[in-house]
Amino acid sequence: MRLALFGPPGAGKGTQSTFLRDTFGLRAISTGNIIRKAIREGHELGPTLDAHIKDGGLVPDEIVQDLAKSSIVRHNFDQFVLDGFPRTLSQAKWLNDFLEAYKVPLQMVIFLAVPDEVVIERLSQRRIHKLTCEPYHLLYHPPPADVDPSLIIQRKDDRPEAIRFRLETYKKVTEPVERFYEDKGLLTKISGLGSNTEIQKRILENLNPSLEYQIA
Ligand code: AP5
Ligand code: MG
Repeated sequence: MRLALFGPPGAGKGTQSTFLRDTFGLRAISTGNIIRKAIREGHELGPTLDAHIKDGGLVPDEIVQDLAKSSIVRHNFDQFVLDGFPRTLSQAKWLNDFLEAYKVPLQMVIFLAVPDEVVIERLSQRRIHKLTCEPYHLLYHPPPADVDPSLIIQRKDDRPEAIRFRLETYKKVTEPVERFYEDKGLLTKISGLGSNTEIQKRILENLNPSLEYQIA
């Protein structure tokens, strides 16, 4: 199965990619998590990446494409769910050509639709695990009691100004990707509102029946 999750910041892409990973044994490939890990581990590109993401801007296409490519290749071109990639038209075209060249095209893009006010509420209440990047919400999905509280942090780009900038960037640069996948007949739009369980159920109900998959 080769899927991508698409949607605005805070739509629940990370939350649902964890669900798809656990349900179907997929690799969850989040470019955001790869970038944060590179910064945390002192990668040579760390300072450049940090400068791009801290205020909510995008990392240049060539850099993100290289990161996504390494991850897809490492996972043998299959059984993955992309989270947060592609998010520019040129990334979408690049990914299309890259996967077509290996005859492993994307099979489905799940668009989680969530309005701005919900994005703002979710992101201001989000905390993540410093090492695994697992997302939590202070109210709806609090960090488990057995996790060391010093490992639970707030992302720099979850400050109010950065959230606003991310939403603007999404509308200007990322929304056109929706049309790209619609035209290819790959886009399935589902509401990202409601409880996590309701959204999981919606995803399962909308999975393309032609996909071959096994419950992990
Ligand atoms: P990235 O980490 O991908 O951030 P994002 O796209 O802005 O999305 P988020 O991670 O903020 O939200 P999410 O949709 O994963 O929601 P989550 O599940 O956490 O990217 C960060 C940065 O990296 C970018 O700004 C950019 O700089 C750079 N970057 C990454 N990819 C790039 C690319 N392709 N090109 C260029 N630059 C790139 O949920 C949010 C919160 O809501 C959590 O607290 C969660 O617990 C809660 N929640 C989830 N579902 C529910 C629910 N149903 N009810 C209540 N709360 C819920
Ligand atoms: Mg995320």
